[in-house]
Amino acid sequence: MTVHPLQSRFEADIASAADLAALDAVRVAAIGKLGVVTQLLKTLGGMTPEERRVEGPRLNTLREGVTAAIAKRKSVLENTELDRRLATERVDLSLPAAVAPRGSVHPVSQVMDELTEIFADLGFAVAEGPEIEDDWRNFTALNIPETHPARAMMDTFYIAGEHERPMVLRTHTSPVQIRTMQSEPPPIRIIAPGRVYRSDSDATHTPMFHQIEGLVIDKGIHMGHLKWTLETFLKAFFERDDVVLRLRPSYFPFTEPSAEVDVGWSIEKGRRVVGGSEGWMEVLGSGMVHPRVMAACGLDPDEWQGFAFGTGVDRLAMLKYGMDDLRAFFDGDLRWLKHYGFSFLDVPTLSGGVGA
Ligand code: DAH
Repeated sequence: MTVHPLQSRFEADIASAADLAALDAVRVAAIGKLGVVTQLLKTLGGMTPEERRVEGPRLNTLREGVTAAIAKRKSVLENTELDRRLATERVDLSLPAAVAPRGSVHPVSQVMDELTEIFADLGFAVAEGPEIEDDWRNFTALNIPETHPARAMMDTFYIAGEHERPMVLRTHTSPVQIRTMQSEPPPIRIIAPGRVYRSDSDATHTPMFHQIEGLVIDKGIHMGHLKWTLETFLKAFFERDDVVLRLRPSYFPFTEPSAEVDVGWSIEKGRRVVGGSEGWMEVLGSGMVHPRVMAACGLDPDEWQGFAFGTGVDRLAMLKYGMDDLRAFFDGDLRWLKHYGFSFLDVPTLSGGVGA
């Protein structure tokens, strides 16, 4: 059997195909539907048996030879292409990530994360409660009976409909104290951050805002523990060692004795900042857990003592990061968020601060 004269021509074309596209063009011209070899094979039908005996094997060998040569060349070209891409498309992992910032962490979330982090380091767990709370846990169990004037000070939104107990949008995070004491035995060390509601609205009050509650129940707890905890927390939160506290005697129905806590401020670069003691401002409410509150939760006040505190998360954010209108927190204005928001990569820690 003689080799078909076209064999060497196609083999030369295949060998010189510089890329996959050129190779494919040769394939189409040779063994494609209308390719030369395909057309030649079609002529076999019109040949005499003798001609076919000679031409048939020659043409089949031609087609197989061309097909095999194309496959071989194809794998060579593919490897070359891969080598080229590996050489040119190298990823430099040491370059800064090209992450397009898509949004930012809202200051309220940021401050809650900071507080959670600080208190976690002091051994406090995070507790939660529902925003729609029963009026017994929101008021009565906290030693605020039905006729107590504190109810009027915390006017809120009542939920319509028939319930076992009247339901309210919680006016503070203090009912989480009740829930925790009801559901777990002491010793207890929790904080409870969350949303609260009151029918209030002006530059420093919004109908919805955020608080964080703290509760410690153990044996032999006294006000020294309360003061140390608050001092450690406020120094860590404001990232300054010169935070000075002033505990003022006060009244809350659920604590006895009760203290309002002020921090000292001073003027730096024309701005009032926390630290020093040029003046005082109130930052939180606190006290020793009232025996009646413990009793309402089934704890013996002669056996257990505790302290509690509560403060506004939004207000802490304003003091630390310098916003002056609370309402802007909840407007959802992207320009405000861009200005005051935080990168999701700024993970707060007690020792490392937050580095806005
Ligand atoms: N629940 C109080 C409020 O919303 C704040 C508060 C004061 C919480 C004293 C406490 C506390 O736990 O001990 O005004």
